[in-house]
Amino acid sequence: MVKLAPSILSADFSRLAAHCQEALAGGGTLLHVDVMDGHFVPNITLGPPIVASLRKAISNEVPLDCHLMIEHADQFIPAFADAGANWISVHQEACVHLNRSLELIKTLGLRAGVVINPATPVGTLTEVLGIVDYVLVMSVNPGFGGQSFIPSALEKIKKLAAIRTAMNLRFAIEVDGGVTQETVRSIVAAGAEILVAGNAIFGKGSAKANAEKLLGLAHDAEPAASNLARA
Ligand code: DX5
Ligand code: ZN
Repeated sequence: MVKLAPSILSADFSRLAAHCQEALAGGGTLLHVDVMDGHFVPNITLGPPIVASLRKAISNEVPLDCHLMIEHADQFIPAFADAGANWISVHQEACVHLNRSLELIKTLGLRAGVVINPATPVGTLTEVLGIVDYVLVMSVNPGFGGQSFIPSALEKIKKLAAIRTAMNLRFAIEVDGGVTQETVRSIVAAGAEILVAGNAIFGKGSAKANAEKLLGLAHDAEPAASNLARA
């Protein structure tokens, strides 16, 4: 069953926990936390103290999915683990020693994910697919919420699903950027299993209603995805 990961980037930070609870009440099952350093991406967001505060306020049954868009990730991964992160993903493009960074996350007992930017081919991941718990396909250039979905991400999702079958692996496929009521069906049909959505959940109106609507559309598209997989 496809999962929704509301991205707190678009939430109201003055009432962060309450806003997150609304999105969870609408069916979100993990919270996506975007960490930006102003170097790897042209924006700055938050660090371990915010993760620690969220971890205190949100049920432990809800994993905190920390997407690190930072350089020198290894220096910061232990602090995010201490703060209560459950899943940590690092960018292929930002990690000189990608295997080491992923192993560090796993050594700390967390789920490890690898992320690729829109211009990075799926083929660059071949040597790490066997050790990751999830692959995050960026469908916008990272740095900001509310951008338009880049359609070439759909082919990358399909390729990853095919490689997973061919290699007999179990990683999950997550997609991040421009997931909206308009794009969600094709994203799920392509094979995405975890949907990150920021603006579509927290942008306007009720986060609960927005989450319910988006998940409903995603679930409707799921049988098509299963049929594709069987074809
Ligand atoms: C972008 C972030 C995303 C962002 C997605 O760099 O990684 O998680 O919050 O926002 P939307 O869903 O608005 O495209
Ligand atoms: Zn993200």
